[in-house]
Amino acid sequence: MSFYEDKIFPYALDVALAGVKQTRIDVISEAQGRVLEIGIGNGANLPFYSNKASEVVGIEPCSAMVDMAADRLKKLSDKGELALAMDQYNLQVGSGEALPYEDNSFDTAVACLVFCTIPRAELAAQEMYRVLKPGGKVLFFEHVQSTGAVKKTLQNWINPIWKPLACGCHLNRDTKAVFETVGFKIDSIEEMNHPKMFPIFSSVILGEAVKP
Ligand SMILES: C[S@@+](CC[C@H](N)C(=O)[O-])C[C@H]1O[C@@H](n2cnc3c(N)ncnc32)[C@H](O)[C@@H]1O
Repeated sequence: MSFYEDKIFPYALDVALAGVKQTRIDVISEAQGRVLEIGIGNGANLPFYSNKASEVVGIEPCSAMVDMAADRLKKLSDKGELALAMDQYNLQVGSGEALPYEDNSFDTAVACLVFCTIPRAELAAQEMYRVLKPGGKVLFFEHVQSTGAVKKTLQNWINPIWKPLACGCHLNRDTKAVFETVGFKIDSIEEMNHPKMFPIFSSVILGEAVKP
C-alpha cells in the first residue's frame, strides 16, 4: 500500500463519511449471531454492533486500516463502549474476494460502503454467499450508480479521476444487481440520495439480502 492509502485516505474517509453515523447505527445494530464485515476499513462500524452479535469478524486488505481498527477497538474497550468482550472481535488482513472461512459459517454479513471498491465485486459477493448459512443475511449500505440520467452520466465521466483519488472506489457500481447475480434474494431495499453524503456519491442502497 502507498503512503497516500495508508496515512491520508483513512482520515479523509472519516471526514467524508462523518455524516453517515446514524445510518451506520441503523444498519449495524441489526447484525446478529456470528457476523462478518468485509472491508471493515478503519473500524468505523465497531461501536455500533450490539449484543445481538455473538462474534464480529472483520476482514480488510489494507493492513494500516486493520491496525487503525484494532486501535479503535482497544480505545472503545477502555471506555467500556463495546457491546461484546474483546475476544469476541476478530480483525484480520485479507480480501473479500477470497475469504478464509468455511462454507455456511456466518449468520450475518455486513457490506458497508465496500462494494464500490472491491476490484472483483461479483467474486466477493460469491464468497459472501458461500460463507453465509442458508437463511443468513447481508446487511448492506452501499453507494451506487445513480438512477437519474444526468447524475449517472456525470458519475461515468468523473469515475476515471475519482478511482485513484478514492483508492479504487467506483462511483457507478450496480451492487443490487451483483447481489442478485450470485443468488441473493433482496428482502428489503431503500434507494435514496443520502442527505449527508457528497452529491456525486450520495446515491445509496440500504437493506437486507438473504441467502435462500
Ligand atoms: C470506502 S472504504 C469503507 C470502509 C468501511 N467499510 C466503512 O464503512 O468505513 C472501502 C474499503 O474497502 C476495502 N477494500 C478494497 N478492496 C477490498 C477487497 N478486495 N476486499 C475487501 N475489502 C476491500 C478498502 O481497503 C477500504 O477499507
